[in-house]
Amino acid sequence: VEETNLRPRKLEEYIGQTKVKENLMVFIEAAKKRNEALDHVLLYGPPGLGKTTLASIIASELGVNIRITSGPAIERPGDLAAILTNLGDYDVLFIDEIHRLNRSVEEILYPAMEDYALDIIIGKGPSARSIRLDLPKFTLIGATTRAGMLTHPLRDRFGVINRLDMYSPEELNLIIQRSANILNIGIDEEASYEIAKRSRGTPRISNRLLKRVRDFAQVKGDGFITKKITQDSLEALGVDQIGLDEVDRNLLLSIINKFSGGPVGLDTLAATIGEEPETIEDVYEPFLIQNGFINKTPRGRMATKLAYEHFGLKYE
Ligand code: ADE
Repeated sequence: VEETNLRPRKLEEYIGQTKVKENLMVFIEAAKKRNEALDHVLLYGPPGLGKTTLASIIASELGVNIRITSGPAIERPGDLAAILTNLGDYDVLFIDEIHRLNRSVEEILYPAMEDYALDIIIGKGPSARSIRLDLPKFTLIGATTRAGMLTHPLRDRFGVINRLDMYSPEELNLIIQRSANILNIGIDEEASYEIAKRSRGTPRISNRLLKRVRDFAQVKGDGFITKKITQDSLEALGVDQIGLDEVDRNLLLSIINKFSGGPVGLDTLAATIGEEPETIEDVYEPFLIQNGFINKTPRGRMATKLAYEHFGLKYE
């Protein structure tokens, strides 16, 4: 319940992603003026940056209903057909992890996106024929961690393609202040900025850390979150000065100590630290690459000088 309360409901409440937001405002207004469904929207970027939130906001700004599902949840073509035929005109269908749709389901989506139509094959063998059912005009919003994982025919059918970027500490600070306000948490500016700086550019991490620091403030203090309480709590949580957690550090230190700084292949690295390769690629690596701790080379991952220095190690 708290999670949903923290989610902004209107574009103007949504902090950050300025360019994406400004463009979406135009496309939404234009679609409304023309009385058309908004063109299909693809949102991509690392997890926790607000793709689901943004999809809900788009639906709300359009004044339509949203149906939320995910790639792996739609197992057979019939599952998707059932969802599509139950949409209302101009509704939003949100498919999270859309790169994980299977092929037979994806093929249902092509005519649905292009012509708002469902092609159904009846019968078998020589007497089989296909009938076309009209669907309501709808907007598909697809979300994925990596746009490169979509098939070309699917990607080509999105009229609006937006990448979500990691948030700056200043933006995360505003998000934390807003969340604290909604949750009735007392926190000073220094403390919220401290959480912001250690959230790896991700609002979901900011909101999670805010709740955990609140726990410490309530048990070890008087409930008010100060910088000191924040620093102590984050240390207890294993979150370091720049927001790296246990897994981040394990990952970097493995490259440094077990593979002499790399290059090391993704699968080997994953096996070494006991994580899935996909989790490393989607969840951990984006921040480490963007901030210059890891280089991705054709022969594998390498730890940078900055990574060595972060641990007080000498880079030879
Ligand atoms: N909560 C999570 N993401 C947010 C955002 N981008 N703006 C405001 N609140 C948020």
